[in-house]
Amino acid sequence: MLSLNCPNYLLIVVFVFGACESRQLEEVAVKSLDCRQNICLGLDFPDTLEVARFTKEASKRLEVHDSLILHSSHLANLPRNVFRNLPQLVELDVLECKVQGIERRCFEGSRNLRRLNLGGNLIKGLEDNAFELATELEELNLSDNQMEDLPTRLFLPLKKLQKINLSSNNIKTISPVIFSQLMSLKFVNLDGNRLRELPSDLFRDQRKHLTEFSAKSNHLERFASNMIVSIQKLSLSGNFGLRRLQLSADIDQLHATNCGLESVALRGRAISVQLEDNPSLKELRVSQPEHLEQLYLANTNLTRLDFLSRSKNLVDLDVTGIENLSDLPQITASRELERLSFTYDNKTLESMDMLPELKNLNYLEISHDKGKEVFIKDLDADFFVDHAEVNCGQLAELLEFVDLPRDTTIVEDRVVGDPRKPLRCGV
Ligand SMILES: *[C@@H]1O[C@H](CO)[C@@H](O)[C@H](O)[C@H]1NC(C)=O
Ligand SMILES: *[C@@H]1O[C@H](CO)[C@@H](O)[C@H](O)[C@H]1NC(C)=O
Ligand SMILES: *[C@@H]1O[C@H](CO)[C@@H](O)[C@H](O)[C@H]1NC(C)=O
Ligand SMILES: *[C@@H]1O[C@H](CO)[C@@H](O)[C@H](O)[C@H]1NC(C)=O
Ligand SMILES: *[C@@H]1O[C@H](CO)[C@@H](O)[C@H](O)[C@H]1NC(C)=O
Repeated sequence: MLSLNCPNYLLIVVFVFGACESRQLEEVAVKSLDCRQNICLGLDFPDTLEVARFTKEASKRLEVHDSLILHSSHLANLPRNVFRNLPQLVELDVLECKVQGIERRCFEGSRNLRRLNLGGNLIKGLEDNAFELATELEELNLSDNQMEDLPTRLFLPLKKLQKINLSSNNIKTISPVIFSQLMSLKFVNLDGNRLRELPSDLFRDQRKHLTEFSAKSNHLERFASNMIVSIQKLSLSGNFGLRRLQLSADIDQLHATNCGLESVALRGRAISVQLEDNPSLKELRVSQPEHLEQLYLANTNLTRLDFLSRSKNLVDLDVTGIENLSDLPQITASRELERLSFTYDNKTLESMDMLPELKNLNYLEISHDKGKEVFIKDLDADFFVDHAEVNCGQLAELLEFVDLPRDTTIVEDRVVGDPRKPLRCGV
């Protein structure tokens, strides 16, 4: 016990006393484990000054498994010697075990550990060397804990890290170097924290190969236009203070719904763009509209969508609930359009003329003051009209990406007198 060095007990003392006091964790040997296969329950070490230590005999039966799940336990500190006894472990899940503290030495011997899931615990503060020995980690899940600050060097030793999930914590600020030197990092999730801004060079070392970044439901007021160069999926929905969004990155999927956005400018290539439920969104600029395939703009305050005349690859367009939209006829350029939703009022009357020009349209949703009508093209007469067994599942398959609203009634084009009731489908 006296071999504990200062940083080690600093970890514990910071939680318990908030100062570096000389206090050591009392080690309690775990001589037997209650496990079904690789799932072990009922470990009870609630004292923050105590730490469980796995023994050889208790671990014996787990040697055949490459993953271990600790569940329904109370472990104030992550147990010691798990990997010294079970060096074959590739994955460790410690789920809802009220873990607060993690000592550096817990990861001694973790030479095969690639996935660590600590989701749903009570982790609040960590020493910056907590993961120093977990060098083979590829996926780290710290979602649903109570972290407020992340020590700057916490992830630095995790050179092979690919995915990190920090969602549902209380993180208020994040250091620009928190992910530095993590050259394999591809997925970052910061949803559900309290971030007001993100450093513009947060992804300095990942810029070229970041695949997915999500920071939904924070308090973001800004998002630096040069933060990302190219990405598959960027999610920023639910940041009510985000008024302007300017992105120069190439983005396969952008989600920024429900944000309070007023203007959006997309300078790079954007393929799928969801901006619905931004009631103050007045300005949308898309510099490369020829790449757009999906565009969802329901419930915005847009008036012009000039770029639609150049959106030759558009497949889905939702402009429901845009009161003063004047450019709808422009979409006749979108020969590939398969799904269209809009609100009908007498201003859109002339837009109806262009519908027959959209030869690929197979789903049309028209909202109006009395409700909503959904038209589905009769692609296959056998399937739709003559086939008595059409069900919602088949419809869903046909419509692929469309989520039918809960209150949708589908009335098939039936022969008068057909006794079948209209079909009700919805998500
Ligand atoms: C991460 O932890 C959260 C919270 O416990 C859980 O919901 C999520 O499924 C976990 N993710 C993975 C990939 O295990
Ligand atoms: C991260 O955690 C959240 C919820 O805790 C979950 O919804 C999400 O799927 C997780 N993502 C990954 C990549 O584990
Ligand atoms: C929508 O734009 C009009 C001006 O064209 C403005 O008066 C109105 O307040 C805007 N609505 C919202 C919700 O911002
Ligand atoms: C739509 O235009 C009308 C008349 O030009 C205006 O009174 C109304 O506020 C506008 N609605 C929105 C949401 O901008
Ligand atoms: C639009 O509808 C309103 C009310 O239903 C009507 O008063 C108006 O004349 C209509 N305008 C046109 C151009 O049809």
